[in-house]
Amino acid sequence: MLPCITACLRLLLNHRRRWPLIVLLISLFFFLSVSGYLEEFLSGILSVFYFTSSRTSSPQVQNIAFPPLLLSPVSACSSPPFLLILVASAPSHRDRRDAIRQTWGSLTSATASASLTLFILAVPKSPEERAALVHEAVTHRDIIQANFTDSYRNLTLKTVTGLTWALQKCKGAQYVLKTDDDVFVNTVYMTQFLRGETGLQYMGQLHWHVTPYRDPENRHYILQELYSGNYLPPYCSGTGYILSYEAANLIMEQLRSGPWPEVEDVYIGILAQAAGIAPRHVAKIAGSLAVPHSTCCYRTMFTSHGMTPKGMQEAWNMLKEAGDHWCPSGVLFYCKLFGQLVEDGGDGVH
Ligand SMILES: *[C@@H]1O[C@H](CO)[C@@H](O)[C@H](O)[C@H]1NC(C)=O
Ligand SMILES: *[C@@H]1O[C@H](CO)[C@@H](O)[C@H](O)[C@H]1NC(C)=O
Repeated sequence: MLPCITACLRLLLNHRRRWPLIVLLISLFFFLSVSGYLEEFLSGILSVFYFTSSRTSSPQVQNIAFPPLLLSPVSACSSPPFLLILVASAPSHRDRRDAIRQTWGSLTSATASASLTLFILAVPKSPEERAALVHEAVTHRDIIQANFTDSYRNLTLKTVTGLTWALQKCKGAQYVLKTDDDVFVNTVYMTQFLRGETGLQYMGQLHWHVTPYRDPENRHYILQELYSGNYLPPYCSGTGYILSYEAANLIMEQLRSGPWPEVEDVYIGILAQAAGIAPRHVAKIAGSLAVPHSTCCYRTMFTSHGMTPKGMQEAWNMLKEAGDHWCPSGVLFYCKLFGQLVEDGGDGVH
C-alpha cells in the first residue's frame, strides 16, 4: 500500500502538467468529504471492528424497573407503520409539536410513506402543565408519557422509554427513527430510502473519536464511572438516528439497570457497540446542521436541525409545491457547505 502511495505521488509530482491534476484531486477530496460520501464509505469499514459474538444471549430488559407509562397510544400502532418516528419533546414545546403534526408528522401508516409520528415526554413540574398535556394527548393520541420528571438530565430515560415502547407496543414496524422536536424530517424521501435497505441498521450522522466531557458543568457530561474510556465509541447524533427493529431489539437487550450516561445518543452508541452493531454514516441525515432554507435542500436531505415551527411550516409548503422541481446533482455539497451548525440537544428537550 505505502510503496504504491509513494510511487503514485512521485508519478504525480513528476508529471509535467501536474497542477491541474493535483487541483482536481484536492477538489474531489473536498467535494467528497463535505458531501459526506467519504465518511459514508469509511463508516462501512467500522463493522470490521465490531464483534457480534459479544452479544449476550440473556435479555436483561425485563429485569429493569422502568418508570410506568402514564400515556400509551397503543391504538396508533394497530396497523404498524413501516417507519415509527419517536420525537423527544418537552412539555412546554406545544408549538413545536403542533408544527410537526401539521407538517411531516401528519403522514400516517395509510399514506405512501407509511410512517407514524409519536412524541415522548415525561411529567412536567406544574399541575397546569400536567393537565394540559393530558388534554393534548386525548386530542391527538400521539403522546407516550412515562412517570419521571421531564428534564434534560433525564433524556436517556426518555429515549429508553420510547424504544421500549416501540419494541413492546409497535411490533411490526420495520424501522424506528429517534429525533427531536426542532428537526424537520422529509418523511417520504426517508422511507423511500429505507425500503431499499436490509439487515441490522443503526444509521445517522456519525460522531467518531469523541473524548467524553468530564466537566460536570457541561450539558454533555459523562461520569467517569459510567464510561471510563478515553474515547467514546462511534455514535450517531441524537438529532436523528434510525434503527431497524431488530437492531433496536439487540441494542435494548444490552441495557442494564441505571444509572446511565445522561447523553442519550452516546449511550445508544455504547449499547450498540456491546451488541456488535456498527453505526453507519448517512450523509443525508443532517445531525446538528440546519440546511439552507431552500426547496432543493429539503428535497435532498432526510433531516434538517434547528427548525422553528414557522420554518417547519415553510419547508413543508416548499416540498408540497415543489412537485417535480429539478435540483442539480451536486446540491448535497451545497446544502452541507452552506448549512449552519446548530448546537445540539439543549433547546430540543429543555
Ligand atoms: C408517579 O410517580 C409519583 C411520584 O414518583 C407517584 O406518587 C405516583 O403514584 C406515580 N403514578 C403512577 C400512575 O404510577
Ligand atoms: C429524573 O426522574 C426521576 C424520577 O422522576 C427524578 O427523581 C429525578 O429527579 C429526575 N432527574 C432530574 C435530573 O431531573
